[in-house]
Amino acid sequence: VKSEGFLMIVLDNEKRIFTLQTRNTTYQMKADRHNILLHTYYGPRLLGGDLSCLIQYADRGFSPNPNEVGDERDYSLDTLPQEYSSCGVGDFRIPSVEFSPEDGSRLADLRYEGFALYRGKYRLEGLPAFWGGDEWETLVIRMKDDAAKMSVELYYGVLEDRDLITRAVRVVNQGTGPVRLLRCASLCLDFQQDSMDFITFDGCHTMERCPNRTPLRPGIQSVNSLRGTSSHHHNPFVILCGHEANEDYGLCYGAMLVYSGNFQAAAERTQLENNRLVLGVDPYNFCFTLAPGESFTAPEAALVCSPNGFGQMSRQFHRAMRENLIRDPYHGKRRPVLMNNWEATYFDFTADKLVEIAKGGAGLGIELFVMDDGWFGTRDTDMTGLGDWDVNEKKLPGGLEALAPRIKALGMDFGLWIEPEMVSENSRLYQEHPDWALGVPGRPQARGRSQLVLDFSRKEVRDSIYEAIRKILDSANIAYLKWDMNRSLSDVWSAALPSGRQGEVYHRYVLGVYDFLERLRRDYPDLLIEGCSGGGGRFDAGMLYYTPQIWCSDNTDAIDRLRIQYGTSFCYPVSSMGAHISVSPNEQNGRVTSLETRGVAAMSGTFGYEMDLGRCTPEERETVKKQTAFFKAHYDLIQKGDYYRLSDPFKDPCTAWEQVSEDRREALVSIVCGPTQAAVPFRRLRLKGLDPALCYAVNGEGAYPGDVLMYAGWPLPIPRGDYQSLQLYLTAL
Ligand code: DGJ
Repeated sequence: VKSEGFLMIVLDNEKRIFTLQTRNTTYQMKADRHNILLHTYYGPRLLGGDLSCLIQYADRGFSPNPNEVGDERDYSLDTLPQEYSSCGVGDFRIPSVEFSPEDGSRLADLRYEGFALYRGKYRLEGLPAFWGGDEWETLVIRMKDDAAKMSVELYYGVLEDRDLITRAVRVVNQGTGPVRLLRCASLCLDFQQDSMDFITFDGCHTMERCPNRTPLRPGIQSVNSLRGTSSHHHNPFVILCGHEANEDYGLCYGAMLVYSGNFQAAAERTQLENNRLVLGVDPYNFCFTLAPGESFTAPEAALVCSPNGFGQMSRQFHRAMRENLIRDPYHGKRRPVLMNNWEATYFDFTADKLVEIAKGGAGLGIELFVMDDGWFGTRDTDMTGLGDWDVNEKKLPGGLEALAPRIKALGMDFGLWIEPEMVSENSRLYQEHPDWALGVPGRPQARGRSQLVLDFSRKEVRDSIYEAIRKILDSANIAYLKWDMNRSLSDVWSAALPSGRQGEVYHRYVLGVYDFLERLRRDYPDLLIEGCSGGGGRFDAGMLYYTPQIWCSDNTDAIDRLRIQYGTSFCYPVSSMGAHISVSPNEQNGRVTSLETRGVAAMSGTFGYEMDLGRCTPEERETVKKQTAFFKAHYDLIQKGDYYRLSDPFKDPCTAWEQVSEDRREALVSIVCGPTQAAVPFRRLRLKGLDPALCYAVNGEGAYPGDVLMYAGWPLPIPRGDYQSLQLYLTAL
């Protein structure tokens, strides 16, 4: 009856109940007498037992009954909470999986078959996934559709301290003929409970991941991406929560997909006012033909349930991602403060000009200089040159071999921008291999930023680009790569696959990107890779597995960034968000902000500069010096501290957030005010996460009890001027 030696997974073999216990939550499913795997509970931690007593049965009109239950009319797949929903056999809510064998049917009827249990974390071949050792336990449940001869394995990874439950799905064709797999979600979550709110993170290029919260209305509501990447427009992270839930209170469920391609997050409020969430690869143009014995693995999804509001949920995701997802070559060390020439020069630079700019940062605490787009082939504008990865010797005489040491002599490492997935039509590469771009013969492709997308589903394409990039990386001492990707996929068709298998291209493309990144990691283990897709167009947990930081947005305006970084923080840790100080007035929106305020905003990210520091006044240079010194001195607190959102930049006059050390003896509060006004009301900011019994010095002065700071608050100074900012550094006395 007991699962000997397992701490987080509790089995009741006789009753076929599987209970996953984390520090604060309980998740349970049960294989019932008809071998249907029912989802019995997910929520605040309970002692356990058989929670199927919570499930209600009722006969509902037009909700059919499985053949074998006879006249048991209150037993319907349409009304019962399913662990992984079937398709076309009586559950009319969102399906999880859909098979089409040779008879052309499109159904899936899954029945429980058995389970396996092991210590440690399962792995997914070719896909990013949370990792770790014995702090994990794994449960595998085997289900089968007898008629289609398809088996479905549901994987569960449990990470107790982080309240994290990961899920993945593997489908195997056990029959004798081919079966088409038409959808395969990573996660299905049913709630037989009241209506909930659905929170999604939406936006566009330069304004990513803005939270949107709506009560679930009857029917299906969803966000997705059909752009081939996870996209600027919606993020593969969503929340379901009670109507009352807020930062510090109420029940909420965060669900993320560890994947960087097309996705769908669909929530449904049903006829019985129950709720279902399904998360996975979007079924549009998705069709994998599995020959007998072949399998398909759906990407991993991860869940955190917080009984205490969004803040706790975010902190659990942040820790889990930092410690068990992101593979950081700087593990245990500080990542470098960088400067990037993009907004300082765009395409207009030479080696001498870059060295001049780097000189401007020398002595100010900058540790890495990044040469952005424009250094290769004929790349003098964004209309040309992609695909030909050889140094433009007119701009950079002597190549990177000559430039990197000049940068090193200024005390900085050297980094480089690449965009390996793309090709310009006027490149040598395209002239030689026009079929290497995605596109249907006879149908001219749509261009995005004047470029086409290389067919990364093909190994020979990846190999050729890899070889070119490898040569570049071996030509000089390169410490960092910015991996950019500047358009959405269209005309998705691969010359390497037959017509019946074109539904595999979107997913194979993503697997190709992962394969390339994994090779880079293997061959250059010390290389820091920053992801980027026109800023935050591929900001997801899948990319973070390979690229420990991602350029959060092409919008470098400090005030817009407060919103973008706020939305991003619901799931992703500070250490993953590329954030830089750029010039004022800002290049994207013309807003004027002080260097101090720009520093406060950028410091809650991976921190760097995107401007020519040589143009700064002596006073500004002093400020920069102070900023880099402050960031380095408080690096662990800023990057690894527990993150608290203290206000909502979409509603509140001031934006404030806080990082608190694990022992609660240190905290950093950052505050940025909005536009000023006359007669500013008196305001207090209530801090969070401190020890109420400790006294804290604020910026080295005074002794303020933690309870006063948290429950009474800190009086905010009255701003004189727009967008003023301040930081409070708290140390326990
Ligand atoms: C888009 C990126 O987000 C920018 O930072 C910059 O690298 C440009 N691409 C270069 O083309």
